[in-house]
Amino acid sequence: MSFRVLGIGIGAVIFYAAASATLLGGCDDPGHANVCTSQVPLVCPASPPRYLDVAPIFDAKCGSCHVATTDGEGPWPLDTYDNVSEWAGLIRQDLLNCSMPPADSGLAMTPAERWTVLSWVLCDTPQ
Ligand code: HEC
Repeated sequence: MSFRVLGIGIGAVIFYAAASATLLGGCDDPGHANVCTSQVPLVCPASPPRYLDVAPIFDAKCGSCHVATTDGEGPWPLDTYDNVSEWAGLIRQDLLNCSMPPADSGLAMTPAERWTVLSWVLCDTPQ
């Protein structure tokens, strides 16, 4: 995980401030009282994150549940570019409303991880 997508230096800090919005995500369903705070990218950064930047995040924060199983149990795998990019829209939704990773999974994402994945989706999932 790196802050590379945020860029380095003063210019990048200004860009970051101008190009983001703070979102307090949550869910009205009391059974899923997930709340997380995210910086939400609004424009694709000049050097967009690529799959190799987000793959380790999906591995660490999603991969323990989203695996390919022989019995077809469990959610679909999030382990290849195609598997992840095909679901980019839903993944974005789930990150914005804090429903994935599930709150009780002990796999909370850092704001930087969420930012990286949301930027990657915003930039049209560069390979
Ligand atoms: C603790 C296990 C677990 C982890 C960790 C997990 N998921 Fe899931 N995910 C599930 C299960 C189970 C489902 C299917 C049932 C459901 O929708 O709740 C699901 C469904 C989904 C769906 C589609 C259905 C929907 O409701 O939107 C998306 C998209 C998704 N997960 C993305 C992710 C991403 C991205 C991560 C990592 C950031 C992640 N998940 C981490 C268990 C997990």
